Amino acid sequence: MCLKNVFLVAVIATFSQGFVHAQYLGYAFHADAKKGEQLYRESGCKSCHGPDGRGAPKAIAGFEQPSTFPDFSKCDQTTPEVNSAYKDVIVHGGPSRGFSQIMPAFGEALSSEQIDDLIAYLRTFCTSRRWPRGELNLPRAMVTEKAYPEDEVVLSTAVNANGAPGNETHIIHEQRFGVNNQIEVDVPIEFQDQNRVWYGGVGDATLGAKRVMYSNLDSGSILSLFGGLLIPSGNRARGFGSGTTTFETFAAFDQLFKSDTFIQTQFGAELPFHTSIAPQSLFFNTAIGQSFGANHGLGRLWTPMFEFIANRDLSTAAKTDWDLVPQIQVTISHRQHIRGDLGLRIPANDTTGRQKQIVFYLLWDWQDGKLNEGW
Ligand code: HEC
Repeated sequence: MCLKNVFLVAVIATFSQGFVHAQYLGYAFHADAKKGEQLYRESGCKSCHGPDGRGAPKAIAGFEQPSTFPDFSKCDQTTPEVNSAYKDVIVHGGPSRGFSQIMPAFGEALSSEQIDDLIAYLRTFCTSRRWPRGELNLPRAMVTEKAYPEDEVVLSTAVNANGAPGNETHIIHEQRFGVNNQIEVDVPIEFQDQNRVWYGGVGDATLGAKRVMYSNLDSGSILSLFGGLLIPSGNRARGFGSGTTTFETFAAFDQLFKSDTFIQTQFGAELPFHTSIAPQSLFFNTAIGQSFGANHGLGRLWTPMFEFIANRDLSTAAKTDWDLVPQIQVTISHRQHIRGDLGLRIPANDTTGRQKQIVFYLLWDWQDGKLNEGW
């Protein structure tokens, strides 16, 4: 079955399972934290989670706290969590997201609106408004970097679908620090058939830092700036590296709409120190997508996306290279901390030496759980 058909089947499967797209996948803008406070006391949440959301003492709660037991006053732990993840756990109980069964299911006892009110109240335990909210951590596109500072490990591979055989895998580690910052390391590993002999090696590794300049959940927008260095670790003679250190910088702006449609944009430049051996270039990447959550927005998340990738060398007579990348991301683990994405990268113009590629990644949000947790 060709890739286009896989894509189509996935999209049809998505629509045929009674998917809804609520506001930000179940984020309720009109929830009432005051009503939630009362429910928190009356429904027994307080006896386990404590009056301040930090957890009741063991003698009162009567259970051993799991290592993942939430402290709702810790903004660094709670702000990356999306409301739909909380709602899933409250409606269906801990095991629904691979958590402990000590956390009971309240879907029978409480209405959907009451649970929204409860979540609005849980959100008041973190008192700082400065933290970017997890709803703005949009599904990662294949090429376009997102604005949200994430804790992720990604293995991203591109395999040539025509022309000379070859493949390239990026091992990417991203880690947050402080409220708004993230550092990242990206090491590419390449294999190419060059005149019927396979060569392999590392490419130019990237070390960089990203910082959120603006984020607002109500308007659904987030803006970040990035600065980094590409180190000439790749073999230039084999075509695996540029042979010079390159400064990379970009701005990323993402917009989430209340229909769970989103657009991610990234605009930047690559500025080699030795422009005699590698040209300066500009890039502009855009990803447009739409998320669909199974089970009224609380279950498995399917996100078809379409990317436009533009690159242009800053030399005279240079042309802008365009690529199109249709793809679909899906959450794999129940906790949604393991995700996969599969697509096709299609050069739209200037196709000599630029091949069609099958592209895919596996992503692990390691703050949300170990690899073997959350299934
Ligand atoms: C019997 C004790 C108990 C009661 C009652 C209880 N919880 Fe929990 N809850 C837990 C435990 C234990 C966990 C952690 C599970 C884990 O990490 O494996 C948890 C986890 C959660 C989480 C998941 C947080 C995350 O990290 O994703 C939310 C949200 C939550 N509870 C909300 C509530 C609300 C709201 C109520 C009241 C309607 C409630 N709980 C009642 C014990 C309880």
